[in-house]
Amino acid sequence: MKLEGRVAVVTGAGRGMGEAFARRLALEGAKVAVTDIDEAACERVADSIGALALPFELDVTSWESVRDAQHAIESTLGPVDALVNNAGTTRIARSEELPEEWWDTVVDVNLTGTWRCCQVFGTSMVERGYGAIVNVGSAFSEIGNGGRVAYAATKTGVIGITRVLGVEWAPLGVRVNAVKPGYIDTPMVQVTMTSGAGAEQLLARVPQGRLGDADEVAKAIAFLLSDDASYITAEALRVDGGNLSYGGMTAANVRPESLGNDA
Ligand SMILES: NC(=O)c1ccc[n+]([C@@H]2O[C@H](COP(=O)([O-])OP(=O)(O)OC[C@H]3O[C@@H](n4cnc5c(N)ncnc54)[C@H](O)[C@@H]3O)[C@@H](O)[C@H]2O)c1
Repeated sequence: MKLEGRVAVVTGAGRGMGEAFARRLALEGAKVAVTDIDEAACERVADSIGALALPFELDVTSWESVRDAQHAIESTLGPVDALVNNAGTTRIARSEELPEEWWDTVVDVNLTGTWRCCQVFGTSMVERGYGAIVNVGSAFSEIGNGGRVAYAATKTGVIGITRVLGVEWAPLGVRVNAVKPGYIDTPMVQVTMTSGAGAEQLLARVPQGRLGDADEVAKAIAFLLSDDASYITAEALRVDGGNLSYGGMTAANVRPESLGNDA
């Protein structure tokens, strides 16, 4: 087991990819703080994982919530060794029509939310001289996919945070990396499958010819958090079935008629 005895925190773990990440880290032996803004959801996930998991309410858009959760987690499970910044959201709209509050929400959750957790949990790791963080980016930080200006901006920013912290904290014993998932079989991707070019065209861009499974991303995260990745920091790993190496979306995906507003 790669993470035996470690204490790990996963944000946005009440469903979707975060839930899969929490499950995988527990399978690797970590004690997992299953955190989410949705208290009932993280309780459900933690209960289903069993003895190695506990639920904690954590809203990444609130400094107070992040600090309170850190205090509660560290007093219950012990000092945090591993953090997965997974909480994220998206809004799809033509850029001319993107409502101001949609931009603000996506930035607050995806970018500033990642930063808040990095600073609060990372500072404690730096003080102990040990820890590892994985930020969940996206393939959309590397391609200009229409309708996702806020999402792409935040996920690009997450890679910037990863690089700077990875370098700054390297001499202090804390590694910071990112994963860039491609098309993973989740509700978030179902929006893309139905609002954009459609499933067939999307999968034609993935050399492995299928959506990814969340546990395939989770395994990459477990590796990056573990001592097997002891000489890897400030790195962003694609987990995308070859999608980005092959190419981005087709031009049809950025035509105005395929960019209806869709939260
Ligand atoms: N689904 C994909 O294929 C895909 C691809 C690339 C990247 N990602 C990234 O992976 C992450 C998870 O995606 P998903 O598809 O599982 O999303 P999802 O919408 O299914 O789940 C997101 C979780 O985050 C929680 N959340 C939302 N706002 C929060 C807040 N303020 N504080 C704490 N928790 C909050 C939600 O309650 C939910 O449980 C996101 O960062 C997303 O950008 C997903």
